[in-house]
Amino acid sequence: MMRRHWLLVGACGWVLLVLMFVSKFINFTFRMPDDYGGRVEMLNWTFPSVKTEKAQLEQLVQKADSQPSPVSSDSPAEDELSNWETVTIRRLQLLSSVCRNSSLWNLTHTPLRKFVLDRIFVCDKHKILFCQTPKVGNTQWKKVLIVLNGKFSKVEDIPENMVHDHERNGLPRLSSMSDSEITERLNKYFKFFIVRDPFERLISAFKDKFVQNPRFEPWYKHSIAPAIIRKYRKSHRDTGHAAGLHFEDFVRYLGDEPGRQYLDRQFGDHIIHWLTYTELCAPCNISYDVVGHHETLEHDAPYILRAAGIGGLVTYPSIPPGITRYNRTKVERYFSGISKRDVRHLYARYQGDFGLFGYRRPDFLLD
Ligand SMILES: *[C@@H]1O[C@H](CO)[C@@H](O)[C@H](O)[C@H]1NC(C)=O
Ligand SMILES: *[C@@H]1O[C@H](CO)[C@@H](O)[C@H](O)[C@H]1NC(C)=O
Ligand SMILES: *[C@@H]1O[C@H](CO)[C@@H](O)[C@H](O)[C@H]1NC(C)=O
Ligand SMILES: *[C@@H]1O[C@H](CO)[C@@H](O)[C@H](O)[C@H]1NC(C)=O
Ligand SMILES: *[C@@H]1O[C@H](CO)[C@@H](O)[C@H](O)[C@H]1NC(C)=O
Ligand SMILES: *[C@@H]1O[C@H](CO)[C@@H](O)[C@H](O)[C@H]1NC(C)=O
Repeated sequence: MMRRHWLLVGACGWVLLVLMFVSKFINFTFRMPDDYGGRVEMLNWTFPSVKTEKAQLEQLVQKADSQPSPVSSDSPAEDELSNWETVTIRRLQLLSSVCRNSSLWNLTHTPLRKFVLDRIFVCDKHKILFCQTPKVGNTQWKKVLIVLNGKFSKVEDIPENMVHDHERNGLPRLSSMSDSEITERLNKYFKFFIVRDPFERLISAFKDKFVQNPRFEPWYKHSIAPAIIRKYRKSHRDTGHAAGLHFEDFVRYLGDEPGRQYLDRQFGDHIIHWLTYTELCAPCNISYDVVGHHETLEHDAPYILRAAGIGGLVTYPSIPPGITRYNRTKVERYFSGISKRDVRHLYARYQGDFGLFGYRRPDFLLD
C-alpha cells in the first residue's frame, strides 16, 4: 500500500517535470527579456518607422541641448552622428594599432575557422554582417536583421523560439555558405559587432547563466557549474550546502589556461558567453566597419543603423537611462575577496580585449 502511494507521487513528479519542459516550447511570455537580466521592460522595436526615426532624432536633439556640444549648426542631430563618426574612427585606429602589437599577438589574432564563421550572421538584402557577442543586447539586433531579410515583416511577429533558430528564421550564419560566398561577403559587406567592458561582461554572464538563468538552460547549473566547482573550489567541504557556483570559482577557471581549455572542450558552444571577443569575432583578422560599445549604445545604435544604410528603415528602441553604464561599484563588489593573483590571471586572459577596444586596465582590482 505504502509502496504504491510513493509510486504515484513519483509519477506525478515526472508528469510535472514533463509539463514544465513542454511549457517552455508553448508559451514564452513568462520569460525575462534576455541580455538585460530582466531589469528592463521589453525593449521596443518599431518597424518600419520614418516617424519613430524622427522621434529618435528629436531625442538626440534634446540630448545635444542638455549637453551643449562644441559644434553647432541647423541640425544638431546630424552633428551628433558625425561627431560619433569621429569616435568610431578613433576606435578603429586603436584596434588596428593594437592588432599590430606583437606582444599581444596571441590574444588578438584568431584564424577564420568555422567557429568564428558560426558567430556571424548574414543579411544579404542589405549587405550586412553581424558578429554575435553575448550580453550586449544581441537579440534585438538579430530580430531587426531577421525582419530586414524579409522572413517576417515586424519584429513583434517573430516567435521567441525562432530568434535563435537559424535554420528557419531567414538569418543564415556565414558558415553555411561556400568559401567564395564567404570571401565575397567579408570583402564587400558592412560588418559590425558590439563589445562591453570585459570584466563587467563576465559578471553579467555569470549572473545570467549561473545565478538567474531565466532562459531555462539547465546544463549551466547541472553540468558546467559542478565541473568547475570540482576543479576550482578551494574547499570542497562547503560544496554541500553552497551548491551553486561562486564567482571566485568562475574566475579561477577562466584564468587557468590549460585547465580551462581542457574543460571547454567538454562544454561545447555554451562557452561563447565567456570566450574573449577575439575568439568570437576575430577583430584583427576581419576588418569590421564599426565596433559599437554597450556603454554608449544610445549613440552607437543609431550610428550603426545609419552607417549600415538602414537608418530610414529601423530604429533602436529607447535605452533606459543608466542601464548600459559601466558600474564600478558592482565590479568591486563581485571581485572583493578574490585574490589579486587570481584576478591577474584573469586579466592576462582578457588583456587583448581590454587593449583592442580601449577599455582601461582595472588597476583598482590588480594593484
Ligand atoms: C501566453 O500566455 C499569455 C498569458 O498567460 C497570453 O496572453 C499569450 O497570448 C500566450 N502566448 C502564446 C504564444 O500562447
Ligand atoms: C513602443 O513604442 C511606441 C512608439 O514609441 C509606443 O507608442 C508604444 O506604446 C510602445 N510599446 C510598448 C509596448 O512599450
Ligand atoms: C604592446 O602591448 C603591451 C602590453 O599591453 C604594451 O606594454 C606595449 O606598450 C605595446 N606596444 C606598443 C608598441 O604599443
Ligand atoms: C604565442 O603562441 C605561440 C604558439 O602557441 C607561442 O609559441 C608563442 O610563444 C606565443 N607568444 C606569446 C607572446 O605569448
Ligand atoms: C589571422 O590569424 C592567423 C592566426 O592567428 C594569423 O597567422 C594571420 O596572420 C592573421 N591574418 C591577419 C590578416 O591578421
Ligand atoms: C551599481 O551596482 C550596485 C551594486 O550591484 C547597485 O547597488 C547600484 O544600484 C548600481 N548603480 C547603478 C547606477 O546602476
